[in-house]
Amino acid sequence: MSAAPHAAAPHAAAGPVTVRVPAKVNVQLAVGAARADGFHDLATVFLAVSLYDEVTATATSGDGPTVGCEGPGSDQVPLDRTNLAARAAELLAARAGLTPAVHLHIAKNIPVAGGMAGGSADGAAALLACDALWGLATPREELLELCAELGSDVPFSLLGGAALGTGRGELLTPVPAGRFHWVFAVAHGGLSTPTVFREFDRLTEGTAVPAPRASAELLAALASGDPDALAAVLPRSNGLQPAALSLRPELARTLEAGVAAGALAGLVSGSGPTTAFLVRDEEAGLKVAAELDASGTCRATRVTSSPAAGATVLA
Ligand code: C5P
Repeated sequence: MSAAPHAAAPHAAAGPVTVRVPAKVNVQLAVGAARADGFHDLATVFLAVSLYDEVTATATSGDGPTVGCEGPGSDQVPLDRTNLAARAAELLAARAGLTPAVHLHIAKNIPVAGGMAGGSADGAAALLACDALWGLATPREELLELCAELGSDVPFSLLGGAALGTGRGELLTPVPAGRFHWVFAVAHGGLSTPTVFREFDRLTEGTAVPAPRASAELLAALASGDPDALAAVLPRSNGLQPAALSLRPELARTLEAGVAAGALAGLVSGSGPTTAFLVRDEEAGLKVAAELDASGTCRATRVTSSPAAGATVLA
């Protein structure tokens, strides 16, 4: 045990390190045409919501990362080195010249393959947890660069709050956001992000896809904290929504059920299949969630608020 490579680091944590990390919803997701590298240029407004995974990093005497997972949908989470948490540990260790001798335990609450960046969240959380466990004190800018190597949504999981994302979503500019309340309807089963982008390509084939641009109206509504102003723009703000609905037509019923239950607006979260509903306050959220649960159009609901802090080491 004393030979563990991190033991020599001056600021290494004495025991396991736990990081709490939020889910996201894209309140705008403008999608451009497919690029030569297969990715799509985006103009997206990420918003972190108070629905969290927790990742605990514990030193081991092994020669690579191991991953465990508990919570709803955890049987769908890969526990091998394709898990972004494991890849984050390997990336950070390689950069620091360490052996990634770490076990990463994921307490999962963010819907798996749900369009809420759950896997990306675990990558960002593992990066921060390993950084603290190994006493590396990696500068924030470098952590964000490592996040971008892991995936397009991972930098935002580290940052949290509200931010405009450009490029493939990894280039972030924080934006002001008032407080809003949300209900998320978790769907039966997941959707693969590449499949939804491929469906977007199929649906837009032969059309001129305009370059994605941030919506000034949406940014103003977000900053104002006025739920009616935000509700007015949300239903047409997700460019991936037609693709998600094409692959999962039953989501239209969930959207209708949420609005019928009193939500101000509903939209598909990211690439789906989770749907997001803006509500006036927490009380309205509890009512909408109860009616959605009773509607039989979703698997579960979560009542949340935004903005939420990014990945944070818990004391
Ligand atoms: O960046 P990440 O690995 O999370 O992306 C997963 C997949 O989603 C990509 O391989 C690509 O198919 C699709 N994607 C995209 N354009 C983006 C982000 C993701 O086409 N801006």
